[in-house]
Amino acid sequence: MFEIKKLSMNLDMVIYNQSGNIILDLYKEHRQLSINTKYLPILFFFSEANYEEELYYQDFPDFDNITLENIVAEFITKKVLVYVNESEEKNNTLGIDTLNKSINYYYWANKVFTEEKYNSTYDEFMTLMDKRKSQPNIYKEYPGEKYDLPFPQEIKEDLMTTMLKRESIRYVDPQKKINLQDLSNILYYSNGETAYALDSGIGSAIFKTLATPGGRAASELYFVNFSLSEIPLGIYHYSIKSHNLELIKKGNYRDDFFNICGGQIQLNLANGLLVATERIDRIIWKYQDASAYRSALIETGELAQNIYLTATALKVATGIIGTFRDNMLESLLDIDPALEFGTAIFTLGKKEGLTRFNRPTLEEYREGEK
Ligand SMILES: Cc1cc2nc3c(=O)[nH]c(=O)nc-3n(C[C@H](O)[C@H](O)[C@H](O)COP(=O)(O)O)c2cc1C
Repeated sequence: MFEIKKLSMNLDMVIYNQSGNIILDLYKEHRQLSINTKYLPILFFFSEANYEEELYYQDFPDFDNITLENIVAEFITKKVLVYVNESEEKNNTLGIDTLNKSINYYYWANKVFTEEKYNSTYDEFMTLMDKRKSQPNIYKEYPGEKYDLPFPQEIKEDLMTTMLKRESIRYVDPQKKINLQDLSNILYYSNGETAYALDSGIGSAIFKTLATPGGRAASELYFVNFSLSEIPLGIYHYSIKSHNLELIKKGNYRDDFFNICGGQIQLNLANGLLVATERIDRIIWKYQDASAYRSALIETGELAQNIYLTATALKVATGIIGTFRDNMLESLLDIDPALEFGTAIFTLGKKEGLTRFNRPTLEEYREGEK
């Protein structure tokens, strides 16, 4: 038997205004259509699933029924309107479509498809030459108080053995402390400068122990001191240029970070934190597509592994935290989220005798919470 189905606006579509043009973005197919605003009421009639016939009983003074029929037919051809099959079972598979619209939209809209045009290396070079004056500084520097770090040490631990020993250690003994030498080593081996290239036409570049998209070296690290006595408590930026700590603000920010990280208990025990950020503006200077954001996240992954491996070799306990309130973190660090964003937080403490599974006692936790 022939079944009449309801029509609905395609749910995999985002509508936005771009310089006065209304764009229908069918983001899963990477297809954008521009639409005259006078047709929008017809489209919106189907924001709830409706039978096509219902449309013809509505009052659309600008259109006669024949025109309406043609418009609906065009919408169906272009997949702006789709038939809803109510007898279809709801798909409960967990996947990217389960997440909210903005994530869903970002995910599908920013996949690089076959038709994507890439610049030749020559064209890219010429474009960057034109833009070299606007290149964001490859070093971030803060004025104000600076604290020297000891020179990084040569670490003789075997790399493969260290990799096998790497683990997240969240719960440390708050009475035991790492020292500035440990901190210096971790900062240098994870995000320090290992080489520098002079400006060869497209700006200068620095090199690190991690690979970096387009040589943009976008990772920055901040140290938050909760309890080390050698330097004041507070938030510091790690200067890659000078290998020292630049004080951003003094104070004990343990409670703020406890809150930023959604109340994760290891925040009460750690000696301090490393906060990783990505200077997305450095990457965007070179790449203006979605791979810019992806690149930044890949670089963060490398940075994280560098921190883990160096800490493991030094018998320092660390654990990554990827769950945090971005807006609070960014405002505490005083960073502009359009240029730089927080990517990960790492707790630091002493490892002695501790593993993933061997943790301090409850009494020791409470002692740490005081
Ligand atoms: C991107 C990312 C985010 C994470 N976020 C958290 C977190 O918020 N809190 C936490 O306790 N562990 C977090 N972890 C650590 C994982 O839980 C941990 O790596 C995993 O349990 C495996 O244990 P292992 O690191 O000891 O091998 C995160 C790990 C990654 C890679």
